[in-house]
Amino acid sequence: MKIRDFQLERYFAKYEFNTKYPLSPSDCETWSIEEILQLKGKEHGEKNFERMKKLRLSYTESRGNSGVLDALEAVCGIGRPGLLVGCPEELIFLFLNSFLEKKDRVVCISPAYQALYELPCSIGCETVFWRLFPVNGRWSPDFDELESLLRTSTKLLIVNFPHNPTGYMPTREELGWIEELTARRGVTVFSDEMYRGLELSVPRLPTFSEFENAVTLGGLSKGPGLPGLRLGWLASPQHDLIEAALTMKDYTTICNSAPVEFLAEPALRGMEVLLERNRAILSFNVEQARMFFERHAELVEWIPPAAGPTAFPRLMKGDVGEMCSRAVEEKSLMILPDKVFDVKDNRFRVGMGRKNFPAALEVFGEFLEDWRRH
Ligand SMILES: Cc1ncc(COP(=O)(O)O)c(C=O)c1O
Repeated sequence: MKIRDFQLERYFAKYEFNTKYPLSPSDCETWSIEEILQLKGKEHGEKNFERMKKLRLSYTESRGNSGVLDALEAVCGIGRPGLLVGCPEELIFLFLNSFLEKKDRVVCISPAYQALYELPCSIGCETVFWRLFPVNGRWSPDFDELESLLRTSTKLLIVNFPHNPTGYMPTREELGWIEELTARRGVTVFSDEMYRGLELSVPRLPTFSEFENAVTLGGLSKGPGLPGLRLGWLASPQHDLIEAALTMKDYTTICNSAPVEFLAEPALRGMEVLLERNRAILSFNVEQARMFFERHAELVEWIPPAAGPTAFPRLMKGDVGEMCSRAVEEKSLMILPDKVFDVKDNRFRVGMGRKNFPAALEVFGEFLEDWRRH
């Protein structure tokens, strides 16, 4: 298989663990194993810990173990034949590779997490982009453009709401348009909902898995704050699509890690508690960012996220690539430039889901004072 390097992941690999101040992460504040085991109180946590110590490290069921699937049925409102548990990144790979074939037409939201369009390209699909633009202080796609992109020959529309990196979230009406249009054209939707649960100024919308023609991706990495578990799920009322991804999993991991699934079950059952704490951190940080970028309005054009931990502001003085390199060198401050999203608009990603965001913002403020003068 030939595929381009995953630019964002290569950038993180280079800087994530050797810089002090992360300005651009997409995950939220994490939890310890102890906190997850104790979500229902200390006594319950101790019993969980005793059970975990005795867990046999055997192979597990490919689709996911029964405790995790039970918990997921409640989270997704989808029964077992429509569910598959795996690592989120792996599930993108499995779904796209099992569903798509060379020359299929695919429409993908843009900008986007690279796996979402690079995998269709690597399969040999005709991949076209449905772009988001800033309009009157809000990110917005053009729905007339979607109508013209979605020809009857289109096999798949790939979306990601809440959106990484812009923080765009469709309104209920916009979601309805996407559902209606794709159903009318017979197009399947792959909906990456990794940032679901991090809605700020907007309501949480129905998941695409409620729609007949969609497959959704969910996970514990972002809002719930458990990226180290590497656990996510595909959900769809179309059982044959899930079955095809499940069958391909025999060539990736076969089954999930037993300790990971042990920890995922209480996390899924306590998901609202996990999300609530991280939404509170995010709301606080978004307000810090609003005040910060108001003070630096002549240097940076800021659009707050409607949902999700990330925003994609525009640098108005100097080159963003140079800014990111200098920030790493001079301040140990990691900032993600727009080129890793294949965008050339002098933008950078800001990630506000962690408690250490205000510290990174303060260092960025010092950096911008120098930048203003250079
Ligand atoms: C939109 C989107 N989908 C999927 C993923 C993959 O999630 P994970 O890193 O947990 O595999 C990410 C990670 O950043 C993402 O931003």
